[in-house]
This record gives sequence, structure tokens and C-alpha cells, in this order.
Amino acid sequence: MYNHNRLKPINLFEYEKLATEHLSQMALDYYNSGAWDEMTLRDNRAAFERVKLRPRVLVDVRERNLTTKVLGQKFQLPLLIAPMAFQCLAHPEGEVATAIAASKAGVGMVLSTLATKSIEEVAIANRNTNSATPQWFQLYVHKDRGLTRALVERAWAAGYKALCLTVDAPVLGRRERDKRNEFTLPPGLKAANIVNISGLNIPEQEGDSGLFTYFAQQLDPGVTWRDLEWLQSLCPLPLVVKGILRGDDATSAVECGALAIVVSNHGGRQLDGAIATLDALAEVVEAVDGRAEVIVDGGIRRGVDILKALALGAKAVLLGRPVLWGLAAGGEAGVAHVIEMLRDELDVAMALSGCASLNDIDSSLVVYKNYR
Ligand code: GLV
Repeated sequence: MYNHNRLKPINLFEYEKLATEHLSQMALDYYNSGAWDEMTLRDNRAAFERVKLRPRVLVDVRERNLTTKVLGQKFQLPLLIAPMAFQCLAHPEGEVATAIAASKAGVGMVLSTLATKSIEEVAIANRNTNSATPQWFQLYVHKDRGLTRALVERAWAAGYKALCLTVDAPVLGRRERDKRNEFTLPPGLKAANIVNISGLNIPEQEGDSGLFTYFAQQLDPGVTWRDLEWLQSLCPLPLVVKGILRGDDATSAVECGALAIVVSNHGGRQLDGAIATLDALAEVVEAVDGRAEVIVDGGIRRGVDILKALALGAKAVLLGRPVLWGLAAGGEAGVAHVIEMLRDELDVAMALSGCASLNDIDSSLVVYKNYR
């Protein structure tokens, strides 16, 4: 008999393959590419493979608790959906489908400034699930500070629970596949939250990525630590600073009021040659010294990767591209399945490591040579 189950992906890598059948070449390249030679993109993943585990045995692991709190907010998993632009390139429901899947699973979602659904629509989708898992809003600071302020005020008004400032993108990294494709949004898609305010859209630019041009024209490469005070004056949301790879920058972020830090190199899409995020994690955790929560992203493809990140001091991880693969292949159900597979893998990894709860995951579980 024909077994449909055989066609259903059983891990995130199989979703990646499946997604290629559902995405245009331009969308696939946009999502999957890294900057320049894509060394950092590859190394993010390789760093997880370098970490080895020292499991504990004969621990009672009949009950496993995977729930956690980040910024005092409750989540069913130590996992949030990373901010990713233009999700309607993957599926017509885009960020709304992602939000519903995340919310139902009790997983947080960080909505990108460059979403193809509006801030309000995504918040309503979340609330309508009845789970209403906290959502955060990711911010790019535009040269037009009025536009920036309006984005923050809308996120606050719509009920987002944190402001996540991306700090690794004063200019956009050079993704050569996008340059070759002259990346732009297809007719009918728009950066929903920008258009509403100022009539801007991703401009087409012959011979270049439209997004590269957009960043160059619209985003402010002059943002410094001093601007964090201004940002925090706009609304009372807790500030998360995303894109830190050094201990001294983490200290500055804490001193400027950040309550959480995301150790991130933007999925290898910005400075190629930058350190893998897992390799940067220990230094940041040490510098922060408990004054803020530390989150890490980049290269997470297995539940056991989450265990490794937590053992090295992260409170939670952000999951990026695999969500887009799930979204492309199956909309809301695809995203839900991606989350569920990671949940299941983390659960098994915890049991096999002698951890009944996330608090049991400590640095003694990993063999890891500090990078510096
Ligand atoms: C946008 O933030 C991107 O990295 O493409």
C-alpha cells in the first residue's frame, strides 16, 4: 500500500529539500544565501557539530519539562522564531501562518520590520489562537526617525512584548546570489509596515539586489549606543539587542539597558568571516554575567543543538531558515511540524543526557574548547 508518511519530512534537512520544490529561484536564493563566500553561514552549522556531549546516566527522566521563561515571559520551548523578512515569498499567508503555528505551539515569534504582513494583522492572528504566546518586534532604524518611531509605537500598541533591535546591519551584507538575481519583491508583495507609513517599497535596481539598495537608501548606518536611550524613550517595551558577537559589545548593551542579547551574525548574511555564533556565545555569557539573558541563533537544525546552546549558557535560541522551509512546504502546518520535530528531538536529547528539565542542562554536559 502507498505510504503517505514516507513523503513527510522526518527532520529539518528534509524540509529544506522539500522547500526547494515550492520556492522560486529568487526566493530560495534570498532565504538560503549568506554573504560573500558563505564561510560564516557554513561555520554556524559546523560549530554545533564541533561540540561534543558528556551525557549523565541513571537519572529519573520519566517526566521532562521543556518550558522556560525569557524576559519573564512563558514559553513552551526555549525557542523563538527568528525575525525573517518577506515571508509571503514562501507562502501566501506568510507571517500570519508562522504566527499561528508559533502561538499554538507556545513558541515566541519575532516579527521582522520587513514583514509582508502588517504588525497589527500578525498580532491579531496570534491573539485569535487563544494561546497568545508573546510576540516580539524586530526593528531596523531608518534614517527617517519619524518612521522608526511610528513602527515602535505600532508594535507597542499592538501588544508586542519586546523590542528587538538588530545591530549588525548598518549596511546590508553582500549576498551575491541576490545581486545576480537582482532580488526584488514580485508584483503584489510589499514590505507591509513600511508602505503603510511612507509609500516606500523595495526599489528595483538594475544590476543589484533591491534590498541592498533599500538598506543603503533608507537605513541609518550612523546608529550608535547613544541611540538606545532614544529608542527606550519611545515605549516601555524591554529592549533586546540582536547581532552581538563580542563580550565588550555585550557589556555595552547591558549598560545601555538591554535585558536580553542575541548572539547572532544574521545567519551568516552580513560580515562573512565573522565568528560562528556558538563560538562567540561563551565570551558573551561571561561578559554579561547574569545581568541580561543571552539568546543565540544560527545553524540550529536539531533539538540536540538547542541542548548544546543551553549548556553553553544560552537561555533560548532563535530558529530561522527551517521555519521558512516549513512555511514554503506546508504553510501553518509545515511550520507547526518543524517546531514539533525540534521539540521531540530536544525531548529525546534531554532524556539521553540525564536532564529532566532545562535547568539540568549545564556546562558539564559539553566538551568544548573555547575559541579564543
Ligand atoms: C533582512 O534582514 C535580511 O537579512 O535579508
